[in-house]
Amino acid sequence: MRGLIVTFAVLAVAAATTQTTYENYKVYQVKPQTDEEAKVLLSFKRFTPEIDFWNELHAVGQSVDVMVSPNLQQLFLNNLRNHNIAFYEIISDVERLFQNERMNQRSAPKAAEGRINFVEFHRYGVIESYLKKIAEEYPEITRLRTPANTTEGRPIYMLRITTGGSQGGQHTKPAILIDGGIHAREWISPATVLYIIQELVENPENRHMIENVDWMIIPVLNPDGYEYTHTNSRLWRKNRSKGKRCTGTDLNRNFGFHWMEVGASSDECDDTFAGKAGLSEPETEAITHIVGKHGEQIKLYLTFHSYGQYLLYPWGYTSALPENWKEHDDLGHAVDKAISAVAGTSYTIGSSTNTLYAAAGGSDDWVKGVGGVPVAFCIELPGGGSWGFDPPTSMIHPVVTETWEGVKVFHKHVQTTYAN
Ligand code: ARG
Ligand code: ZN
Repeated sequence: MRGLIVTFAVLAVAAATTQTTYENYKVYQVKPQTDEEAKVLLSFKRFTPEIDFWNELHAVGQSVDVMVSPNLQQLFLNNLRNHNIAFYEIISDVERLFQNERMNQRSAPKAAEGRINFVEFHRYGVIESYLKKIAEEYPEITRLRTPANTTEGRPIYMLRITTGGSQGGQHTKPAILIDGGIHAREWISPATVLYIIQELVENPENRHMIENVDWMIIPVLNPDGYEYTHTNSRLWRKNRSKGKRCTGTDLNRNFGFHWMEVGASSDECDDTFAGKAGLSEPETEAITHIVGKHGEQIKLYLTFHSYGQYLLYPWGYTSALPENWKEHDDLGHAVDKAISAVAGTSYTIGSSTNTLYAAAGGSDDWVKGVGGVPVAFCIELPGGGSWGFDPPTSMIHPVVTETWEGVKVFHKHVQTTYAN
């Protein structure tokens, strides 16, 4: 009996930690040149999840990264060849990539209790301890809030960084709202946002950046999904709220502004499932709650994703441009200039719909369109190529530090344009 219980316990643990394997899954970069070729390629979407489009096709002549399971590779490639569609293999074994990542993660020098580093991707527990620790160490300039809890009961944290100076509860300083990790698998995003927090709070040289501007920062908006990518399925994108047949809502399709109009799915098993209704999820509500409370004060919203090296501004639901598109465009170019000066990483700048693809229900559209925040950017950080969503841990530091140079430009714009 005792042996049986032990066996069950071991099985339960094994089941709980079973990782989806991507053994011999390959990623191809495919470049259809005509509408006909694009149609052939897109017809493979019905094989989801065995065939997984890592990005959307936004125009013919542009390439898409497509992950294909071993049993469908023959079929997929035969079709491409028959139609003369250009492609090449960029990842030969996705599982090997993830195994390397797990090995790097294990061998990375561990951060001390309550600390973080930028040589590994941290679990949510480590991020939580860090936020609590700095809130405790810097009580004059930080407030740690939990605007919502997820369906699995994790608190979503927002760190507010401010040197005060608000009179009668009326904040006279402009604020910048930042979030990371809306999409679970885009690990470089929370890392980047954590670096921003570290620089603002712990580096005295940046004190001037918190003097005239307040910051509200959510490093991981989707902690359930984020943990799931660590424990179960590295390429999970959505949150973990339960549906009837499938789990998860794409939070960046769930915002209630032109919800479900374009580029979103009503099938709960799809990666871009927009949810049962606009703003049905606690994570999206966390953002609307914060903007509802501080909307007047917030002048800039940054939401970090990966990958593709894009600085995207509204709108994502239409090809029309916002009235202050030029402010966005000029700012985007200034940010790109600062980032590329570090190591040559260059970004493409433009509206989401015109540069990438039309997709309604994004956080950026809601924050500007409903929340009234004048400037909003969705930043697609580096990745891709032979890494995809999985830049090696050695890339964390270069990416977060170069991106920080861009954040300085964003800050400067807010200070000069919106501070009085
Ligand atoms: N890769 C992001 C996504 O698909 C881009 C979002 C851009 N913003 C938008 N409102 N469509 O969610
Ligand atoms: Zn994303």
